[in-house]
Amino acid sequence: MASNWEEFYSSQPKPAGLEDSERLLNNFCIKHFAGDTKVVLVTSGGTTVPLEHNTVRFVDNFSAGTRGSVSAEFFLKQGYAVIFMYRLKSLQPFSRHFTGQKFLDMLELTETKDKTSITVTSKNISKIAEVVQGYKAALKDGKLLELSFTTIAEYLWLLRSACQALAFLKESCILYLAAAVSDFYIPADEMSVHKISSSKPQTISFQLVPKILAPLVSLWVPNAFVVSFKLETDKDLLIAKARDALDKYKHKLVIANMLQNRKQQVTLVTQKSSCVINLTEEQLESGEEIEKYIVENVVENHKSFIANCKKGI
Ligand code: PMT
Repeated sequence: MASNWEEFYSSQPKPAGLEDSERLLNNFCIKHFAGDTKVVLVTSGGTTVPLEHNTVRFVDNFSAGTRGSVSAEFFLKQGYAVIFMYRLKSLQPFSRHFTGQKFLDMLELTETKDKTSITVTSKNISKIAEVVQGYKAALKDGKLLELSFTTIAEYLWLLRSACQALAFLKESCILYLAAAVSDFYIPADEMSVHKISSSKPQTISFQLVPKILAPLVSLWVPNAFVVSFKLETDKDLLIAKARDALDKYKHKLVIANMLQNRKQQVTLVTQKSSCVINLTEEQLESGEEIEKYIVENVVENHKSFIANCKKGI
């Protein structure tokens, strides 16, 4: 009998363009394997659950893609090649520094009778220079591959393809699963084709999305360093749920965070230990980002993991 994740893939049509993404993924992994560069897959942002095939309405979640996009920049700084799998229109590494009003506030407008010029304000020059340097270096070395998804089905298809491309890298790759993945969906054959009529109240029934960590850890990338995230809104459940995930899926690390203070505090939970990272108010005010410390910690854990694999532990 097919497992629930196999049923999911057989019932949800393959997204258009998946073969092109697979080609990019394979080339990227082969290139960085040849160059002896470690690779990390970062997933980022939320997934949508369409209510209609011709989608007018969908269910979504809060994730802005901050965790994933900031972490991707820090992994690049640590020398990793990064596959950034992100929700279309959520934050992306580097460009995230220039979104909305933040960008306009960095500019200065000077108008004289015969000339108008726009410059970067002096207090922002060094910050922008650092971002642009990071971006140009990632481009030059071909160290950043960005692939997007929108729906839960697109996410799960792309994730499986990414795992197939990464599997041969074994312990030298990290999967850093920061996306906020929908837990419920409407199977393709149960979904309305056209816009649902608003002439009467509706009851919509959702099925459970299979827990994809199960085949991912045990079958798709069994030798990789897999990091999952655990999000809760009730602090009394958080660490127990993170431990449950480790017991169930047997991967390496769970990063536990609360919706309410996720930019200030996370707990890194392994089979043997847990470690809290907490930014002070001063650090937050000075613009420090917690992902710097998360990524440093993950990279250290990854190094020990590789060393143990080499010793056969
Ligand atoms: O993007 P931001 O606004 O910065 O927010 C960051 C974040 C809070 C989204 C991020 O830090 C985070 O916690 N991401 C994971 C959120 C989540 O989906 O948590 P969960 O407890 O529902 O799932 C736990 C793990 O199971 C996740 O790593 C997920 O990849 C995995 N999962 C989830 C559903 C599913 N069907 N299969 C899965 O394998």
